[in-house]
Amino acid sequence: MKSFVSRRLSSAALTIAVLALLVFWAQRQKSTLGDASFGTGYVLLAAIFFLASYNVRKKLPTLPWASSSDWLQAHIYVALGSAAIFGLHVEWRLPTGIFDSTLAMLYLATFVSGIVGLFWTRSIPARLARVSEEVIYERIPMLRSQLCERAQEAVLETVRSTGSATLGEFYSRQMHGYFEKTRGLGYFLRPNNRVRRRLLAELTEMSRYLSPPEQATCEQLFAMVRRRDDLDFHAALQWRLKAWLFLHIGLTYPLLAVACLHGALAHLFDGGLL
Ligand code: HEM
Repeated sequence: MKSFVSRRLSSAALTIAVLALLVFWAQRQKSTLGDASFGTGYVLLAAIFFLASYNVRKKLPTLPWASSSDWLQAHIYVALGSAAIFGLHVEWRLPTGIFDSTLAMLYLATFVSGIVGLFWTRSIPARLARVSEEVIYERIPMLRSQLCERAQEAVLETVRSTGSATLGEFYSRQMHGYFEKTRGLGYFLRPNNRVRRRLLAELTEMSRYLSPPEQATCEQLFAMVRRRDDLDFHAALQWRLKAWLFLHIGLTYPLLAVACLHGALAHLFDGGLL
């Protein structure tokens, strides 16, 4: 079996060889006063169709067409190569007309979203694995409300058994919102542990004045604050991956449609489709 590095090297070499052939062909067309636009346009359209077909492949995982990781590798190399084909097709200038500019922007937005997504799909799973055990995104709201109930019950029980309201007052003032509310957009865009650190520091400070049974409840609250923060972190980063994929696929189909229309119009202006 080929090693990881040699597989990457041969895929990169193949991509570069195909691109070099295309550049050579386009240059020859130019030097003989021919037009390479239709040729590079069709190669670019074929690349975009191939990239879009990854969505279909992912929906049919049982089909025997290569493994999912081979598809992803092919997707990445064809996508990177498509940038050079795009450059060749537009002759390294951004188009000026509204229709062609829209098409170029759609392509560039899809390409950039792919690069960003490649980084996130590589880095986010490792960041999540460092935080806690695997958490299924769809179960997070349920786990959060269970945690909120457990925290409330623990505090109420302590207030009842000790007859002291200190912990209960602190909980309803400082912690209830943390357990009950979902984080704002700012946190989803840039998750951080500021609130967790502040709450843990306030809880530590207050626990010095509490009785031993209240301190025992504080220990449970420490763990629950951490758990809640881990769940929020999972929610924010998993949401980011889902939102990214939604955008990446959402850009793909308009790109495909506008690219096909652009090709048809190019033929019409060149003297007809047939
Ligand atoms: C420029 C045109 C591009 C098009 C039309 C395109 C289209 C697609 C489509 C349709 C999917 C399948 C999503 C799904 O069904 O789950 C996908 C996935 C993906 N694309 Fe692209 N893509 C493009 C560029 C790129 C680029 C430049 C990169 C990075 C170098 C990239 C990286 C990825 C990754 C990492 C996934 C898979 C995510 C996963 O499986 O979790 N794409 N792309």
